[in-house]
Amino acid sequence: MVQQNGTSEQSTEPDYFQTNPEPPTLDRQITLARSFIEQHAGQDRRVALVTSGGTTVPLENQTVRFIDNFSAGTRGATSAEYFLEAGYAVLFLHRQFSLLPYSRHYSHSTNCFLDFMTHNDAGAVVVESEYQQQMAQVLSRYRKVKQDNTLLLLPFTTVNEYLWLLRGLAMQMQPLGANGLFYLAAAVSDFFVPAERMVEHKIQSSEDFQEDLTNGSGARAPAAHMEGKRLVIDLDPVPKFLKMLVDGWAPRSMIVSFKLETDPSLLAKKARYALEKYSHHLVIGNLLNTRKWEVLFVSADGGERWIRVPAGRRSVPTWIHDGAQMGEPAIEIESWIVPEVAEEHTKMIEKRLSKQASY
Ligand code: PMT
Repeated sequence: MVQQNGTSEQSTEPDYFQTNPEPPTLDRQITLARSFIEQHAGQDRRVALVTSGGTTVPLENQTVRFIDNFSAGTRGATSAEYFLEAGYAVLFLHRQFSLLPYSRHYSHSTNCFLDFMTHNDAGAVVVESEYQQQMAQVLSRYRKVKQDNTLLLLPFTTVNEYLWLLRGLAMQMQPLGANGLFYLAAAVSDFFVPAERMVEHKIQSSEDFQEDLTNGSGARAPAAHMEGKRLVIDLDPVPKFLKMLVDGWAPRSMIVSFKLETDPSLLAKKARYALEKYSHHLVIGNLLNTRKWEVLFVSADGGERWIRVPAGRRSVPTWIHDGAQMGEPAIEIESWIVPEVAEEHTKMIEKRLSKQASY
């Protein structure tokens, strides 16, 4: 059952949102999202919330140092393009300055947009002829999305900003019912520094400038402090928000989470465990080193299957000339993942509709 504040009665997590401050930009972002969702709900269009990139954990309130989670944003930005192509409107909740749909083709450090440009005879800056066709295609897809207003970019940096936004957006998506989809590709911190344990200023490494941060007042000790020359960090666990999302914030939407592992022997086990624990619809497992060409679908109906791009069709950075690029064009695995997810979403919507019809 959903309570006023959006948490579920089943949730045993302490109330994170009572003790960690609301980001100053939250209201503005939620207002933008509300009118975006209203527009697409009015057109009976499906809306996907795609999360992308890694969250940070600041060690100081005036942040000089922070802990980061791995993710360039490739999975999220690429998937968002395929959702748009499949007719969805996309709320793109992404780490600020990580890869974005469309511009990702030209903004990676190995794909600098300037390398695609040249001067023509009249001295004007133009796209090199060999890239014209590909850039024209990306440009027309990008223009269409802008014209239809089907993509809303919402940035976050810290895990706190991410969690406030995820909750706020989920609430706004509730009226969409089964037409809402959550595709959680962001790499979210499992550990963090709660507000009450955050120091205000830059932690001083020099022993000559260290403050005594041990406090006798009963308040909890700061999460990061120096002991002589050593920095000691003691982080709290981030509550598992997938549980709150499934049970309380988005009970009628389709929810797809990702599971990142580095040990192949653990992937299937951990993906199945997550699905059973959170009772959502689909977990997509991936390994750090092979994530661009193979993923494991683990679904609620008990199914488990790999999707793999064959060796000759894998997309590799353009600077690796290993022959893989020479044959047919490379396949982005997201072009296979997203249509499968959309098909599962259709089945879920149809099931809901036939259930309603039988009442
Ligand atoms: O951007 P790329 O470089 O292409 O990389 C893509 C990716 C590897 C980051 C992506 O495909 C991926 O696997 N994302 C999920 C990474 C992750 O955080 O996995 P996890 O096992 O820590 O978390 C599993 C799920 O639990 C996630 O969907 C997360 O949203 C959720 N979670 C995590 C932490 C937390 N406190 N609460 C949660 O609910």
